[in-house]
Amino acid sequence: MQTDKRPENMQRITTPELAEAFINEQVKEIRETVKDKKVLLALSGGVDSSVVAALLIKAIGKQLVCVHVNHGLMRKGESEQAIDVFGKNLEANLIYIDATDRFLDLLAGVSEPEKKRKIIGGEFIKVFAEEASKLEGISFLAQGTIYPDILESDGVKAHHNVGGLPEDMDFELVEPIKLLFKDEVRVVGEALGLPHSMVYRQPFPGPGLGVRCLGAITRDRLAALREADAILREEFDKNGLAGKVWQYFIAVPDMKSTGVKDGKRYEGWPAIIRAVNTTDAMTATIEEIPYPLLHRITDRITKEVPGINRVLLDLTPKPIGTIEWE
Ligand code: XMP
Repeated sequence: MQTDKRPENMQRITTPELAEAFINEQVKEIRETVKDKKVLLALSGGVDSSVVAALLIKAIGKQLVCVHVNHGLMRKGESEQAIDVFGKNLEANLIYIDATDRFLDLLAGVSEPEKKRKIIGGEFIKVFAEEASKLEGISFLAQGTIYPDILESDGVKAHHNVGGLPEDMDFELVEPIKLLFKDEVRVVGEALGLPHSMVYRQPFPGPGLGVRCLGAITRDRLAALREADAILREEFDKNGLAGKVWQYFIAVPDMKSTGVKDGKRYEGWPAIIRAVNTTDAMTATIEEIPYPLLHRITDRITKEVPGINRVLLDLTPKPIGTIEWE
């Protein structure tokens, strides 16, 4: 088994050839460890869990059971992509759970950010544990831990971490990418044939759109946020900004202003654009976005998204503003 320390002479994985060598080595190691047993993985569809899933599918095929919990706070198209790529293309053993109602019912009326995070994290573990307890013969739990997680914390992944599983579920851990840096994970992901859009996805917080639908989440405002965010991402993609800006998204506050639509008064929420660059997320700078593009995004969001009547641009660096709004 691997240790938790990256050997000093370990070569940085930068090319498809080096990725292939890593994949072959891991496939062999996974097979030796797992033998004919079953492995469980919480597959969020993010870069790390997706790469772990693809590696394990290559190594042990249907002995891997992936559970994708849709907490209703995913970005537009994300759960669908996970189902397409893993369930259909890679023919994985994938259990899809739409827990949207459970999460949104629990979150109804809750406006305090840390309380929202706790509810989302706690419920995630509950749903996952319930699913795990229905399965028989699982011996291992796979996790998308990467090297910065080990360097920065106690090694337990904060995002969607399943370290909080009930104690009677004592699985052995399989963490095949735990010595890799993010850029290496991406090279390995591409070598495994995962879509570019999945492997180069921008970072997305565990509580998802829950921390961008500010204050108490309502279904209508969450739906507006998801649509506006999809438009922003589409326009950034089309206009070459996706690779230049580290993180970009929409936040929708719980307030309305007056507008006018089709000659009538139109009360609506503002969509706030946040687009930042950073290397470590500890500080962040504001990326210049061409004005014509801002006008186009404003035009599309206000025309296409029910409930939104203004588009604002957040020009605040970190510090003083955190990247997320709550
Ligand atoms: P802030 O808002 O603290 O964000 O400047 C720094 C980075 O962390 C992400 N973030 C989170 N990620 N769970 C996560 O997994 C969270 O609760 C969370 N809050 C913030 C944020 O998106 C940014 O990349």
